[in-house]
This record gives sequence, structure tokens and C-alpha cells, in this order.
Amino acid sequence: MSDSIRIIEVSPRDGLQNEKTAVPTPLKAEFIRALAKAGANEIEATSFVHPKWVPQLADAGELLSEIGDLLVRISTLVPNEKGLERAIENKVQAIALFTAASEDFVKNNINMSIDESLEVFARVISAYREAIPGGFVRAYVSTIVQCPIAGKIAPEKVASVCEKLLNLGVDELSLGDTIGVAVPNEIIKVASLLELLTEKSKIVWHFHDTRGTAIANVSAMLDRGYRAFDSSAAGLGGCPYAPGAGGNLATEDLVYFAERNGLTTGFDPVALAEASLPVLAVLGKDPFAKAQLATLAACR
Ligand code: HMG
Ligand code: MG
Repeated sequence: MSDSIRIIEVSPRDGLQNEKTAVPTPLKAEFIRALAKAGANEIEATSFVHPKWVPQLADAGELLSEIGDLLVRISTLVPNEKGLERAIENKVQAIALFTAASEDFVKNNINMSIDESLEVFARVISAYREAIPGGFVRAYVSTIVQCPIAGKIAPEKVASVCEKLLNLGVDELSLGDTIGVAVPNEIIKVASLLELLTEKSKIVWHFHDTRGTAIANVSAMLDRGYRAFDSSAAGLGGCPYAPGAGGNLATEDLVYFAERNGLTTGFDPVALAEASLPVLAVLGKDPFAKAQLATLAACR
């Protein structure tokens, strides 16, 4: 089994989309460059969603021009054909589609039903593959355990949405505990159904850490043989359309946990701990991710 893990850094997108203060574009670009320098190989930079829905990321095109060519995979969220047009104009190497296992959540988040989202994605995937040969397509499935509106979600519902996305030819699935409620037993139930559908290498886990259970879920999935996780520098994060969604699993905590368990991540913990400091300063926040705090304290 692999002794390294893939970390998909989502702080510039999942982190900043949820902040009241919009971060200036040059500072976002500096953040992304600092994350790449700290070892991030895959970074979700921004979203081509409606600027009125998520004004914090309204500068998506400008941001991508500002970061220029980085030797890392940069992905962007794309909800629909209009978002795809904007992504193609910016020649993005990876798109991330997003739906959920809860009808209420999808309606709230992208104003579609699950089936409508899948119909839109079928068109988006084929247009994207034609426009950007070799482009990478990920698909998020949110609310895999619980929806903030509909409550508990059956693992079978998650598996059914995942199966349809796999049939559309997505390259990977990112499974989101969007409001950070899940514990390992619940994630294991979802994983055991997904394992009947696809290989583990196509699955990425996306844990929010609202109640401090994210690293326990990572541990359970590492034990089960999974090696890819989304996380967010400084633990920034949340979804503006998911009431109660707290910060994402902090990349600093994930890197510490993985490296201490003998798994390589490619990150330099000190560079990582420092990468988000200018953004946190603009947001008026002190660092709060535990491993980030410990690293900063040790090097001061
Ligand atoms: P809508 O209002 O239903 O859109 O919003 P529409 O198709 O009816 O179009 C209305 C107008 O919006 C039209 O303009 C479109 O051109 C325009 P008009 O003709 O009126 O001038 N429009 C757009 N403009 C720019 N970019 C676009 C776009 N699409 C339409 N892409 C829409 C539908 C999907 C756009 C909206 O609901 C939206 O932007 N939602 C985004 C919500 C979001 O970003 N949520 C957070 C990310 S998800 C998340 O955080 C969870 C995740 O982290 C995983 C987890 O934790 O579980 C991924
Ligand atoms: Mg998220």
C-alpha cells in the first residue's frame, strides 16, 4: 500500500467562499503561490459560480490570470454551462462539479434537483473534454451523512448519486461531510457501498471539522486503504448554503497526523503554517488550527 497521501488543498475556494471579508485578488494569488511552495500539488483556487451567490469569489478569472502558470494542478468549481464557459476561457486544467445526496441541499446550493444537476453535468463534461483534452473532472457529493435541511442521509442514496456520476465518466469523486457531523462508523458505511462501485483511488474524502471528528474519519479511511483527502490551510472553510458548516479539516492537522503515522505528504509544515498568515490578518483572525499553532509556537 502507498506510503504517501494525496492532499487536495481547498482553502482558497472552500475557505475564502465563506468569509464575510473579501480577500483582495493579489493576496489570494500570493496565498496560492505560498501553498504551492509549501508543498501543495493540487489546489482548488476558486469557483466559477454566480458572483451574486458567492461574491467572495467573483474575481475568479482575474485570480487565475494573476497566479499564472504554477507547476501544480489548479482546479475550480463549475456548477453549470455558464461556469464552464468561464472555466474554458481561463483554460483550467481541472474542474470540480458539485451536487449532493440531499435534494434539499442541491436546491439550496445550485438551484437544481439532483437529476437536473446530473443532466447539466453530462453536458458540461462532454463540452469540457472537447475543449480541454486531458482536463481533469472531479465531482463533489455533499451531505454524505447529514443534510442541514433534510437531516440524516441514507448511505444507499449517496451510493446511487456516486454511481450516476461515475457513469458520466468523472475522474474522481470527493465525498463531503459538509456540516462536519460524521463519525467513523458512518463514513465506513458509505465507503463499504462505494467499494462495490469503484476503486479506492477514485475516492477523495472531504471532511469538515465542525465538531472535531474530521481526523478520526481520516484515520478510519487510512486504515481502510484510502490515500486522498481534501483539506484547507488554517482550517478555513464552510459552505454559505449549508447553515452550521464549520471549517474544513485543517491541512496542518492532516499533514501532522499523516507524517507522524509514517505517510509522506510532500508538505513543509513550517512553510504551510506560515502560508495563510497574511490572509488570516486580512480576515482579522488569529490562527486556530491546532497543528498550525503548535508549529508556529515552536519556530518563534
Ligand atoms: P440560478 O439563479 O438558478 O442561475 O443559479 P440561472 O441558470 O437561472 O441563471 C440566472 C443568471 O445567472 C443568468 O444571468 C445566468 O447567465 C447567470 P442573466 O441572464 O440573468 O443575466 N449565471 C451565471 N453567472 C456566472 N457564473 C455562472 C452562472 N450561472 C448562471 N456559473 C447557480 C444557479 C448554480 C449559478 C447558483 O446557484 C450558484 O452560483 N451557486 C453556487 C453556490 C456555491 O458556490 N456554493 C458553495 C460551493 S459548494 C460547497 O462548498 C460544498 C463542497 O465544499 C463540498 C462539501 O463540503 O460537501 C464543494
Ligand atoms: Mg466543503
